[in-house]
Amino acid sequence: MHSVLMDVDTGIDDALALVYLLSRPEVRLQAITCTAGNVGARQVALNNLALLELCGRQGVEVAIGAETPLEIPLVTTEETHGPQGIGYAELPQPAQGISPRHAVDVWVDEVRTHPGEITGLITGPLTNFALALRREPRLPRLLKGLVIMGGSFYYQGNTTPTAEWNTSVDPHAAKEVFAAYRGLPEDKLPIVCALETTERIEMRPEHLRRLGEAAGTPEPELVLPEQPEGLRSASSNPLVACLSDAVRFYMEFHRLYDQGYVAHVHDAFAACAAIGRTPFSTRLATVDVETDSPLLVGTTVADFRGLWGLPANARIVSDNNPDQCFDELIASIGALARRLGVPQKGQIGTSP
Ligand code: BDR
Ligand code: CA
Repeated sequence: MHSVLMDVDTGIDDALALVYLLSRPEVRLQAITCTAGNVGARQVALNNLALLELCGRQGVEVAIGAETPLEIPLVTTEETHGPQGIGYAELPQPAQGISPRHAVDVWVDEVRTHPGEITGLITGPLTNFALALRREPRLPRLLKGLVIMGGSFYYQGNTTPTAEWNTSVDPHAAKEVFAAYRGLPEDKLPIVCALETTERIEMRPEHLRRLGEAAGTPEPELVLPEQPEGLRSASSNPLVACLSDAVRFYMEFHRLYDQGYVAHVHDAFAACAAIGRTPFSTRLATVDVETDSPLLVGTTVADFRGLWGLPANARIVSDNNPDQCFDELIASIGALARRLGVPQKGQIGTSP
């Protein structure tokens, strides 16, 4: 059994990561904490709650933490992830409420209560986790492991020419988190899924078609570049329809930035990696984050050669296998969608 505590800024690819983990029978989701990033923290929480309900999983705690980065104003990106953060998907108001616990309390209490058992997975800015570390500096040793989606190492950024989105939103938090890991044993160092490998996890129309097939939907799931923008899925399966409507938006966004009719599903790779269901290799490095220079703020720097004379504090993913990752995502999410089936009248689904 894998116990996973997620911190997310849902977000289209965060949504895929969450649905994927919900599709895995061996994963216990300890709780979901929400950070402001792609959209505001409250909207992130509503998205997570609605996705849980769509997947038939009430009862997982969803908590909000910091609603702004540590030291700089919040920037969100509805342009990338849609007005609510899940592209064109529109989910009903969730029945379950947001937890009264603060995200920082969730991290500290859960990890202290289950020492050595919980894998942390962070696919948003590192604000909540940095605050949790201030409160409980032993978190890195108490966690079983930590997987972070963030950074970009000697590779074009996706927010500034050198900075990746999650570190760019809260560079001070990222700097604190990497500093807290200096000198820890190798097996405790965070696994960092950065742009140079997560951008290889390129979702294409073919993957959505295969998802529909894996879900057993009679109609082919067609999301195609020649279709009008904003077309909604006609799938009779609500989970397929939701993910398809979400990813269509992401594909249109990537096309707008000359990356083709594809979607980089960074966070879904991080989720597969966190539970060991996709192959990858890592490279030890000492990581630091630029917080001062107006030109380079949010840029992550990796010292692979020990030039700084400082101990390693990260294991940066250096290779992965996109085909195997998509095989895993499609088979597992498809099987969940098939189990959930077609809703009866009165059950939830996405709006047309
Ligand atoms: C990261 O930024 C967000 O927009 C995505 O959800 C992902 O976590 C990629 O840079
Ligand atoms: Ca994210």
